[in-house]
Amino acid sequence: MQIIKDKEELLEQLAAWRHAKDHVALVATMGNLHAGHVKLVELAREHAERVVVSVYVNPTQFGADEDFDEYPRTLERDTRRLKQVSADVLFVPDDETVYPFGHDCATVVSVPGLTENFCGASRPGHFDGVTTVVARLFALVQPDVAIFGQKDYQQQLVIRYMAEDLNLPIRIITAETVREKDGLAMSSRNQYLTEEERAIAPTLHAVLDRAGQKLQSGSREFSDIEKEAVAELEAAGFEIDYVAVRRAQNLAVPDRDCDELVVLAAVNLGKARLIDNVVVTI
Ligand code: PAJ
Repeated sequence: MQIIKDKEELLEQLAAWRHAKDHVALVATMGNLHAGHVKLVELAREHAERVVVSVYVNPTQFGADEDFDEYPRTLERDTRRLKQVSADVLFVPDDETVYPFGHDCATVVSVPGLTENFCGASRPGHFDGVTTVVARLFALVQPDVAIFGQKDYQQQLVIRYMAEDLNLPIRIITAETVREKDGLAMSSRNQYLTEEERAIAPTLHAVLDRAGQKLQSGSREFSDIEKEAVAELEAAGFEIDYVAVRRAQNLAVPDRDCDELVVLAAVNLGKARLIDNVVVTI
């Protein structure tokens, strides 16, 4: 596996692959890799001859009071992990490569509508940071395929929208959420949990699963399902940001006939903000 920091070196490698008619898949990450990221790399392998994994902790997607400084940076361990799953290139750009004019003067890519609610409402500017950096990584790596995780449900929808709206010739693939044995969605932020909080954390998935089962078994009382989930989560000790039953396709308020639903939630537990979701196809 090659570790590339430099744009020129990346472009040279991409040209060689293109010459060999190899397809390229991108897995964009902020590092601190876990089994969820590894799954994305494995899936990328199934869709392209070459796999690039980027590690870049993107400053523009963190709010002023968020965890940018604390965000775990574990490049050595990430490198070892990626070698085992045989990624072709680990791309570790610096700030100047991603934001040549600095991030205060950066061109911003913004997706309206889809980013107004949920994580977009609680984390103002977050999705502008995500779409801006992903557009930049797409421009640098020029992948044929890019893989994103279902765990960040709203994020993958926003990226799909951006790619389609800008006519980017990139196929977006969404990978299922990888979980700990007890159901907790793997996340770099789980390490902010104390032992006591870690024991509570899997309840988030259990509650969403129950909500999903109610939908699956025919209930269309969306607002009751949301209220029940909120009550269960509060009783378990979470502070609720949002719990919502929405159309899986675009996060719109569903009607009773909708046959693809998603139950989305974001909660705070101590220092950690946890998000998770369950998709229900009827
Ligand atoms: P990061 O949180 O590092 O996640 C990188 C990718 O891994 C995202 O597509 C995310 O949805 C996916 N992922 C995280 N946990 C997962 C899990 N348990 N199972 C499956 N996939 C999982 O998301 C970001 O970074 C950034 O916003 C980024 C897209 C890289 C832009 O900076």
